[in-house]
Amino acid sequence: MCGIVGFTGARDAAPVLLQGLERLEYRGYDSAGIAVFHDGAIQVEKVSGRIAGLREKTDNGAGAPGAAGIGHTRWATHGAPTDQNAHPHLSNDGRFAVVHNGIIENYLALRQELMDYGYVFHSETDTETIVHLLEHYYNGDLKAAVMKTAARLEGSYALGILCTETPGVLYAVREASPLILGVGVGENYFASDVTALVAHTKNVMYLDDGELARLTADSVTVYNCAGQEVQKPVSRVTWSVEAAEKGGYAHFMLKEIMEQPAAVKAALAPRIQGGRVQMDDFDLEAKELRDVRKIIITACGSAYYAGCSARYAIEKLCRIPVQVELASELRYCDPMVDEHTLVLVVSQSGETADTIAALKECRNRGAKVIGIVNVVGSTIAKLSDHVLYTFAGPEIAVATTKGYTTQLVVLYLFALYAASKLGRIGMERYDALVKELQQLPQKIQQAIDMNWQLPRLAGRYASPSLFFIGRNTDYAVALEGALKMKEISYLHAESYAAGELKHGTIALIGENQPVIAVCCNEALMDKTLSNIVEVKARGAKVLALAVKGNKTIVSQADDVIFIPRVETLFSPAVAVVPLQLLAYYTAREKGCDIDKPRNLAKSVTVE
Ligand code: G6P
Repeated sequence: MCGIVGFTGARDAAPVLLQGLERLEYRGYDSAGIAVFHDGAIQVEKVSGRIAGLREKTDNGAGAPGAAGIGHTRWATHGAPTDQNAHPHLSNDGRFAVVHNGIIENYLALRQELMDYGYVFHSETDTETIVHLLEHYYNGDLKAAVMKTAARLEGSYALGILCTETPGVLYAVREASPLILGVGVGENYFASDVTALVAHTKNVMYLDDGELARLTADSVTVYNCAGQEVQKPVSRVTWSVEAAEKGGYAHFMLKEIMEQPAAVKAALAPRIQGGRVQMDDFDLEAKELRDVRKIIITACGSAYYAGCSARYAIEKLCRIPVQVELASELRYCDPMVDEHTLVLVVSQSGETADTIAALKECRNRGAKVIGIVNVVGSTIAKLSDHVLYTFAGPEIAVATTKGYTTQLVVLYLFALYAASKLGRIGMERYDALVKELQQLPQKIQQAIDMNWQLPRLAGRYASPSLFFIGRNTDYAVALEGALKMKEISYLHAESYAAGELKHGTIALIGENQPVIAVCCNEALMDKTLSNIVEVKARGAKVLALAVKGNKTIVSQADDVIFIPRVETLFSPAVAVVPLQLLAYYTAREKGCDIDKPRNLAKSVTVE
C-alpha cells in the first residue's frame, strides 16, 4: 500500500528511483512522484497514473538531475489520486520533501494546528502534515526535527525525507510500515521492499519500529526513538533480480503461476529429510503441542483461504480443533484465546495491517504464534514466536498464486509434523503422506500441462456472474478460484458450499448460468454430482474440475478440466492451479490489467 524509495550516491538519483518505483508498483499505482536535490533546491515531479507517465514526464529521469532523491508510488487513502495529492510533498519554504507509506491517524488535529500557525496546505493528504511539521520543528538540526515530528505522529508510517540544508543526506523513519535500508558501495538506498533494491545491492538492514536512519553516499547510521545510535546487522538477500522480472511472460501473474512447481519444491525440499518432515526453522516439543487445545488460523484474502483449505488437513491429522478467522474480524471479536491456543498467522507480505493487529491481539492473550510468511524480515516474521518461511520468492502480481500454494504446502507440512509429534498418525499413513507431499511439484506441473484448452474455455464461460461450488476441500478451492476471478477479470463470482445451494442461492441459477464445479474430493464426488445435476436441471452450464479418469463427471458436465490424482487432503494445492489459469485467461480475454487490477494493492498496510 504505497511504495517508497530513496537513493543517495554519486550518480543521478532519478533513474534509480524510477526503476525502484517500477518494482514497487504492485503496492499502489494510482499516482507517483520523485523529489531530487540539485543545485541547492528540491525539484519535485509527479503525475497521476502509472510510473510510465512519470518516466515520460522526466525523460527517463534525465529531466530531474541530482544525486540524492526520494520517490513514491501511491494507493490513495486520503484524497483522490490527483497530481496534487501525489507524493512527494514539499514544505512551504521548499526546504523539505517527504514521501510516506501508511496512515497518520491524528492528521486532522495536526492539520488544524499547522494551519493556525499559518502553514498553507496544497493537498488533501494526511502526509502533508508531516512536511509542515518538519519545517516547524527545524532549527538547524535535521535529526532533532525528524524525531520531534515522528513523536507527534499517530498511526503507521514509513517516511523518506530530503532537505536542502543537508545535501546528500536522506532520513528514513519507520513505525508499523515496512522499510528496508540498502547498503551499497559509495551509494545507499531505502525502500519499502527488497525487490526495489536487489538490482543494486544484496546487503540490507531491516529497520524496526521507532527507528530512524540517516543515509549519505558513504554511511548508514540507525538511531532508536531516543536518538541513540544502534548497531544493526547487515543481512544478505537471496532473491535475484531475474526473479523480480517477467522473464518473457506477458504478465507476472502467468510467470508466477508457472513458477509454482519450483516454488512448492523450494518450500518442501529443505523440510523433508530422510522421509521425515523436519522443521529446522522451529521446534515445538510434543509437550507444547499437547497443551494446545485449539488452533486458530488467521489471515486476509487468499492467505485466509489457504487457512480454510489447510484446516481440513490439520484437523484430520492432528485431531485438534481449528478455527479459521479473518484477521479483520478476529481483532475486534474479543477472541477466546489463551496460552493453550496456537495461532498460525499466514501472510505472503508479512505486512498486512489487519493480520498484524490480529497477531498482536492473540499474543496479548497469551497465545503462541507461528508466522507463515514469504517476506524475510517482515513485521509478522518479527512478531511471531516461530516463523516458517514459504520460500515462494518475490511475488509481484497483485493477485497471489505461488504465494498461496506455498502457504498451503507449509501448512500441510505443519499438519504432518504436529501429527507425528503428537503420535496421532500411523507410520504407514505418515510415509504415504510424505510421499504425496513430495509429488506435489510434479502434479502441479501436470495440472498446468493438461489444461491447454483453458484459454478456449475461459472465453466460453466468461459471464457477468459465475458460481464456484464444491464441498469440503473442494469448497476451499472454490473460494480461492472465485476470488481470483473477481480480482483480475472483474466478473462477479460467487463461491458456495455445494450442499448449501439449495438453501437459497439456487434461486439465482437460470438458463446458461455458468457454474464451475470443483469435484476433486473423490469421497464426496457423488454428493457434488447431485448438485451438478440440480443446477443443470435449471439450465446451468457446468464446467467441472475433476481428477483425471473420472468418467461420471464427463457424462454430466458440459466441459471438464482435469488434475492428476492426488491425496485429497493436499488436493487444493493442485486443484487451484487450473482455476488460477481460468481467471488469468478470462481477464486476458477481457483486456484487463492483469498484474495491477483496479482498486487493489498487493500489500494492504492500512486497516
Ligand atoms: C491483499 C492482496 C491479496 C492478499 C491479501 C493478504 O488484499 O490483494 O492478494 O491475499 O492482501 O496479503 P498477505 O500479504 O497478508 O498474504
